[in-house]
Amino acid sequence: MHLSSTLAAAVALPLASAQLNQLAQKAGKLYFGTATDTGELTNAEYVSILTNTKEFGQLTPANGMKWQFIEPENGVFNFTEGEIVSNLAAKDKQLLRCHNLVWHSQLAPWVTATTWDKANLTAMLREHVYREASHWRGQCYAWDVVNEGLNEDGTYRSDVFYDTLGDEYFKIAFEEAARADPGAKLYYNDYNIESPGPKSEGAKRIVRLIQDAGLRIDGVGLQSHFIVGETPTIDQQISNMRGFTDLGVDVAITELDIRLQLPADAENLAQQSVDYRTSVGACMQVKRCVGVTVWDFYDPFSWVPGVFAGFGDATLYFDNFTKHPAYNGVVEALTNNTKCKPRPSKMLKRSKPLIV
Ligand SMILES: *[C@@H]1O[C@H](CO)[C@@H](O)[C@H](O)[C@H]1NC(C)=O
Ligand SMILES: *[C@@H]1O[C@H](CO)[C@@H](O)[C@H](O)[C@H]1NC(C)=O
Ligand SMILES: *[C@@H]1O[C@H](CO)[C@@H](O)[C@H](O)[C@H]1NC(C)=O
Ligand SMILES: *[C@@H]1O[C@H](CO)[C@@H](O)[C@H](O)[C@H]1NC(C)=O
Repeated sequence: MHLSSTLAAAVALPLASAQLNQLAQKAGKLYFGTATDTGELTNAEYVSILTNTKEFGQLTPANGMKWQFIEPENGVFNFTEGEIVSNLAAKDKQLLRCHNLVWHSQLAPWVTATTWDKANLTAMLREHVYREASHWRGQCYAWDVVNEGLNEDGTYRSDVFYDTLGDEYFKIAFEEAARADPGAKLYYNDYNIESPGPKSEGAKRIVRLIQDAGLRIDGVGLQSHFIVGETPTIDQQISNMRGFTDLGVDVAITELDIRLQLPADAENLAQQSVDYRTSVGACMQVKRCVGVTVWDFYDPFSWVPGVFAGFGDATLYFDNFTKHPAYNGVVEALTNNTKCKPRPSKMLKRSKPLIV
């Protein structure tokens, strides 16, 4: 489609049929996106929504770029599973968030079964990060370079990398990712860092660790796996985001879902709508919050019921493909124009220019 007709359609479209990526971009964000997975791509109705770039302008492979698929044996690389989603994104010109290079979980079993010292783990880690990131060079808008490297109290998580290399492993991973793909935005990504507190402070420490080493880190990913009625307030989410952007990095909401205690009813669905509006609304008010990614958009494909007993319906679409009330909550946040309205203020009448 020509750009001019895209713009014309955007202007002419009634709000009721406007879609999430279109609204996010209109409001100045880079994308509204979703995670997806290879096993889901045989569902035609799902795929028609997934590939509609008015709805989703960005894809994240939920699993296919994880270590267990990419390097299943020492030195043996297999990019097939990750390419399924990266090729889909390329076909429809959707941005790609690549996920992830280093994580304690979903590792190939040989990594933890091997005896390492500092020298040979460093060499192996460099090789893994460089080979994977260079494979997708030029295709990733962003890479989650290190995923979930923190405990809840903000200290570093014990795993094969930290236990052998200490915090040096963060620097190794960011250095190799930058060398492998100079154009990709390099992120640290974690959960429970969406409001101020010790874990969020830990993530800031990681940002400074990379920066102080003279290396590049471009962003912090706020996973945002929330529970209906228990999400941080909009003010907490905004001030937390600004804590990161004050360090000179972007933020993004990278894995948003808000699970409810089943069964769904009018009340918990209404609260879920408020909660989605709150998180997306926080991103809208922070300039360097570049975009929002939901961790899949269709309830039957959500990871939630398999992991949190008694919880579900965490996404924006029910199993019959009707939209949750939360979809409208997201639309409300994306179209909240009140922040643009100048408020009458005594300060405007000052004769001297006000320096802010
Ligand atoms: C590579 O990965 C794909 C997808 O997981 C799998 O089907 C294929 O068998 C793998 N190739 C090899 C040589 O193991
Ligand atoms: C790494 O080095 C240690 C000795 O320091 C050795 O025991 C171990 O087998 C080595 N691992 C690999 C994979 O080469
Ligand atoms: C809408 O914008 C106003 C003004 O910036 C803000 O106070 C409010 O929290 C926003 N609402 C949502 C849902 O984002
Ligand atoms: C779709 O599912 C939702 C949630 O179960 C239900 O409220 C709605 O009535 C269903 N819509 C149709 C058209 O079946």
